Amino acid sequence: MSSSFLAACRREPVDHVPVWFMRQAGRSLPEYRELRQHHDILSICRTPELAVEVTLQPVRRLGVDAAILFSDIVVPVEAIGISLDIKPGIGPVVDEPIRSVTDVDRLRPLSPAEDVPYVLEAIRMLAAELDDVPLIGFGGAPFTLASYLIEGGPSRTHERTKALMYSEPATWHKLMDRLAESILAYLSAQLEAGAAAVQLFDSWVGHLNVDDYRSFVLPSVERIFTGLEPYGAPRIHFGVGTAHLLEAMAPAGVEVMGIDWRIGLDAARDRLGNEIALQGNLDPATCLAPWEVVEEKTAEVLEKGGGRAHIFNLGHGVLPDTDPDILSRIVDTVHAWSPGD
Ligand code: CP3
Repeated sequence: MSSSFLAACRREPVDHVPVWFMRQAGRSLPEYRELRQHHDILSICRTPELAVEVTLQPVRRLGVDAAILFSDIVVPVEAIGISLDIKPGIGPVVDEPIRSVTDVDRLRPLSPAEDVPYVLEAIRMLAAELDDVPLIGFGGAPFTLASYLIEGGPSRTHERTKALMYSEPATWHKLMDRLAESILAYLSAQLEAGAAAVQLFDSWVGHLNVDDYRSFVLPSVERIFTGLEPYGAPRIHFGVGTAHLLEAMAPAGVEVMGIDWRIGLDAARDRLGNEIALQGNLDPATCLAPWEVVEEKTAEVLEKGGGRAHIFNLGHGVLPDTDPDILSRIVDTVHAWSPGD
């Protein structure tokens, strides 16, 4: 497969900077909204034909250089018996949150072939259909998953999560280990089924300081990435508000670091060095502004990315009110750009 996305992940030269968008499949697309009238989100995730269709929608419409599997970070957790729902406009809501060491024991290890066969089937179907466009598999990182499990739903402060971490470190580490083991099995199975790369979403870990990141999170993330290394597929590590954590995250070992919009790609590169590719980092809110503004901000991101070892993306997911035509124009602008323009 000759893919600008895979080449950029490996820091090889590219004809054009590759681009895809986190949450490219979803509510910004009218064809997704139409399909959602008839199916709830977890049913789409559990039905390979539907998951495949929604994964392909942005590839067809936007001409992005990578597809990302349509699923959600809570799918494998639900599959091991944690009762939860994804509520529109809210996010994942867990019926009985995990708050003690006995609760942690409710998390049995994930056996991908038995527990999430529909995810693996969707990946096999996509790998066959997508020929030239690589498919990115993904999972939630232990901290971000733990936050949903402990808080019972989305949280602005992650206070119960941190309270458990500080007051019962042994329970915390057990929870991180359990989740790491299942996520490693989950991402390994996705690569075996035909995903060309994997992204670990640690969306909320930016709420920790660097010392706590190193003690309470890094070991579990490192275990996941070390376990994935033998597959030789690009590994992408992403968090929001993690500018202060970049040096602490880097030793977990990945080919690509996802960068949110709060730090320039040039500054991120100065700090992380040239041995790692960068993915990002247009502020998703920019896409709600007039095209002239989006174009200028897109060019700024491209210049700071330098045209090498850079995968263009937003700094977080596409906002639901984004006009998909803006996304198409960003793709065209990124593809037409070359260093020195
Ligand atoms: O990127 C893609 O196109 C693939 C699809 C994808 C979804 N969830 C589908 C989805 C991915 C990669 C995710 C990951 C995910 N889910 C993360 C990590 C990425 C990030 O945004 O930081 C997180 C934190 C979640 C948890 C979650 N699930 C949230 C916060 C929400 C949004 C709630 C809302 O309605 O505002 C969901 C639901 C969800 N997952 C939707 C989609 C398209 C919207 C549900 C709908 O159609 O109503």
